[in-house]
Amino acid sequence: MKHQLGLVFFLGCAVCIAVVQPTSISELLINTPLGQIKGSVIHSRLGKQIFSFRGIRYAKPPINELRFKPPVRVEKWEGLLDATKDGPLCPQPSTEPVSEDCLSLNVYTTKLPTEGEKPKRPVIVYIPPGGFYSLGGSSAWAGPNYLLDEEVVLVTITFRVGSLGFLSLGDKEAPGNNGLKDQVEALNWVKQNIEAFGGDPNSVTLLGYGTGAWSVVLHMVSPMSQGLFHKAAALSGSPTGAWPLPTNQLELAKKQARLVGCPDDSAANIIKCLRTKPYNELGESLPKFKEFGTDPILIWSPVIEQDFGQPRFLPAHPIQLITNGQFRKIPFITGQTKDEFSNIAFNVIHNQTLTKHMNEEFEKIAPIAFLYERETDFSKTVSKTLKTYYLNDKPVDNTQLAKLTQLYSDALTGFGVNRAVKLFAEYSNSSVYYYQFNYQGRYSHFYTPESNNTVPYGIVHHDDLIYLFYIKLFPLFTETSPQEIEMVTKLTKMYANFAKTGNPIPTPSEQLDNVKWEPFNLNDQKYMDIGNKLTMFNKLNNERYSEWEKLYPLSMYQKNKHSH
Ligand SMILES: *[C@@H]1O[C@H](CO)[C@@H](O)[C@H](O)[C@H]1NC(C)=O
Ligand SMILES: *[C@@H]1O[C@H](CO)[C@@H](O)[C@H](O)[C@H]1NC(C)=O
Ligand SMILES: *[C@@H]1O[C@H](CO)[C@@H](O)[C@H](O)[C@H]1NC(C)=O
Repeated sequence: MKHQLGLVFFLGCAVCIAVVQPTSISELLINTPLGQIKGSVIHSRLGKQIFSFRGIRYAKPPINELRFKPPVRVEKWEGLLDATKDGPLCPQPSTEPVSEDCLSLNVYTTKLPTEGEKPKRPVIVYIPPGGFYSLGGSSAWAGPNYLLDEEVVLVTITFRVGSLGFLSLGDKEAPGNNGLKDQVEALNWVKQNIEAFGGDPNSVTLLGYGTGAWSVVLHMVSPMSQGLFHKAAALSGSPTGAWPLPTNQLELAKKQARLVGCPDDSAANIIKCLRTKPYNELGESLPKFKEFGTDPILIWSPVIEQDFGQPRFLPAHPIQLITNGQFRKIPFITGQTKDEFSNIAFNVIHNQTLTKHMNEEFEKIAPIAFLYERETDFSKTVSKTLKTYYLNDKPVDNTQLAKLTQLYSDALTGFGVNRAVKLFAEYSNSSVYYYQFNYQGRYSHFYTPESNNTVPYGIVHHDDLIYLFYIKLFPLFTETSPQEIEMVTKLTKMYANFAKTGNPIPTPSEQLDNVKWEPFNLNDQKYMDIGNKLTMFNKLNNERYSEWEKLYPLSMYQKNKHSH
């Protein structure tokens, strides 16, 4: 992480930026309300200068006595903050640098304020995916090279994950949600400081992917996030599906304790001992939480926080808060990729051990794989219903690959996202937009194994991110990749439009296939199919999702009723 350099540069640098040349990147210095920052210059896909400020601390290091505590606001620093490198990821198994001192964000902009001009561009704050146990906002995973050809300011954030971010013991010491409270602190930082980077603190769009999209929906209902953002995009995820948001994860904490040699007999002893363990031991214990191949894909979870007198991030189930009208009524986009989790289905079906296990103990494995409550009578009902509906009551084998793909995708993404779009369409007075990402490109996060990474297997979770961010796993698309560039242009244009106006296509244009993106409403349920061409359709996977709606009726979430 960055430390104070003790050097003081007396330069009127909000002004000198305007004349900075690419050859003098060492001179990129700006003044913020918290102190002076040194950045670097990189280039967008189209060759614009991007002023890049990486690894900026937005909260105090959550180490020593601050481990397992909510984030603490960062103070002003003396001298110059070197923001020319990414901060580390939070502790997790990774080949990239990790550190417990990981609460940082990156800011990218192409126009800095000068004495005469304050650009006040719309700000997109990206909340990265990673299951609440991995990844982060570093430039390797969220490069700005595509989005910054649009006139927006991009902020990417890194927040605590795994037990260090989500330990929840059901007591005052660890009521939970610290990783989400980190995100709130990052949003506070944006509000206070983004004008110094040419951003408009009154036009902030949250854009999250996967569990980052879960986070976006949670910010929409959280009392802590009030006033910190103005538009929301939740890509491929929402906490409004079958996953039972618990009030604590004491059992998981006990498992974490045992895995690192701590006593698990009481909440007090667990946290006392976990505070003494090196962060790497906690981060690297993650694979031991997997119970069935790579499942469950979600382990550490947001919790409905009980009231111990602390500021609560999530006081009730998001469905309850939305249906009570307790949420931000702001423009909202959500949707998913066509095949989402076909990769997990593929891996299960091509692994005899896993297939056999799933077939022999479907009732036990299904809630682990498909993320719903375990062991109860209701759980058994859900398993039975899903097995009948998706698998025709037949064993899982290679004839069932398409069906198992649907089941994984609907369970882990599709149902929750569809329910979110329906809830917001019903209870919000702002426009709600729905999509399916249906572009089968040359690149993917999953290829058929026998093709030596040349034939994508479906359009899986994260595949749309390839066109929104420069991700180091893939080439940087230039003129030599015309197909990819077409999608890069469309996606970056639509999200930038949304950040500016709250509408992804305010005016149809040739570049966006002359299509109007009509808002979703409950009658015709329109969605944009983002494929080779942009096309509006109705009622995405309607029959499939109604099966889930029958299992999880909204009445289940009403106050004072038994809640799953
Ligand atoms: C099948 O899955 C099991 C359990 O996750 C794993 O240990 C094994 O390595 C897998 N086999 C193959 C061939 O991938
Ligand atoms: C939605 O309703 C709120 C009041 O409940 C109002 O402040 C807001 O302007 C409305 N938004 C739109 C887009 O109509
Ligand atoms: C797989 O692709 C890599 C890189 O494209 C290449 O070096 C390698 O020879 C290929 N292997 C096979 C078995 O085709």
